[in-house]
Amino acid sequence: MISRTDFELSIDRPLPRRRATVADAPALSALTTLGVGGPADVLCRPADARGVRRALAAARAEGSRWRVIGRGSNLVVDDAGVDGWVLDLRRLRALVVQDDGRVVAGAGLPTATLLGETRRRGLGGLECLVGYPATVGGAVRMNAGGRWGVVGARVASVVAIDRVGNVHTFDRAACRFGYRTSALADHVIVEVHLRLPRVDGVAYRRAVEEIHREKASRQPLCLPSAGCMFRNPDGISAGLLVDRAGLKGRRRGGAQISEVHGNFVVNRGGATASDVLGLVDDARSAVARVHGVDLTLEVEIWRRRAT
Ligand code: EPU
Repeated sequence: MISRTDFELSIDRPLPRRRATVADAPALSALTTLGVGGPADVLCRPADARGVRRALAAARAEGSRWRVIGRGSNLVVDDAGVDGWVLDLRRLRALVVQDDGRVVAGAGLPTATLLGETRRRGLGGLECLVGYPATVGGAVRMNAGGRWGVVGARVASVVAIDRVGNVHTFDRAACRFGYRTSALADHVIVEVHLRLPRVDGVAYRRAVEEIHREKASRQPLCLPSAGCMFRNPDGISAGLLVDRAGLKGRRRGGAQISEVHGNFVVNRGGATASDVLGLVDDARSAVARVHGVDLTLEVEIWRRRAT
């Protein structure tokens, strides 16, 4: 399954690496959609797959942990920040769109750009990504979606790098897409190959606008959030359970359980990770008490490892 051709041709730049001290390290809050969280020990922005492999090798050589950030949309970073290396993949934003529906997208490309550019070329099938503030790699890794389908259904193959720097091509079956899961969690996705249908541009545009309107009426899209905090247990809306437990609107500091949708915690200004995680605990306890359901987190929580 290992394929080294094609994308390695684009590998030619050295890894721009920034070794930051805790004092001057930029907070990761600026790289997340929720806007909370402290710094990483090392933040680097590889320009291509070779840069990713170098970063992984350097982190491994110093015995450090590494993590990957895309749009930071499904993520809560602790106020103390995180140990080890954070790889920000936003520079991997290549996009090739072919008229026959074959599309190659860099992992760091915003899903909104993918949606807009493919639609402009008469391709559809990405209704599931409307209103998702993600990168292509992040969306594919968690098989993002909802009522309008999942992105995994449009994936032909994924190029990803494993912990020891080997490059693999996963076909769709090997990706093992499930409800907000895939087999790609331990890999760094660098490139995604999609297969999109040709569509009637006017009808598709209308459908996308309608989904946007619908989502905007049900979700707090205008406030900073990490998207849905919990997975839906057995097909029931976690938001509905939080709502019926009476927690919508609850505040802690600058964070609030959205008044619009119970599965969103929004940053009303100046929220900390501790405010957000406090609300997560509140919601979990209330839902367990009222409905007897144990909610599982959908968002990732990044914490500094205790030393
Ligand atoms: N509902 C309430 N109160 C609430 C929230 C929802 O009564 O506070 C009700 C709604 O009225 C509706 C039902 O619950 O009857 C389902 O709500 P919704 O359509 O909003 O869907 P969801 O199951 O809550 C899922 C995804 C969303 C995705 C939407 C729409 C999960 C955890 N959530 O939400 O994904 O946008 O469907 O497709 O799977 C995300 O993954 O970050 C996310 C937001």
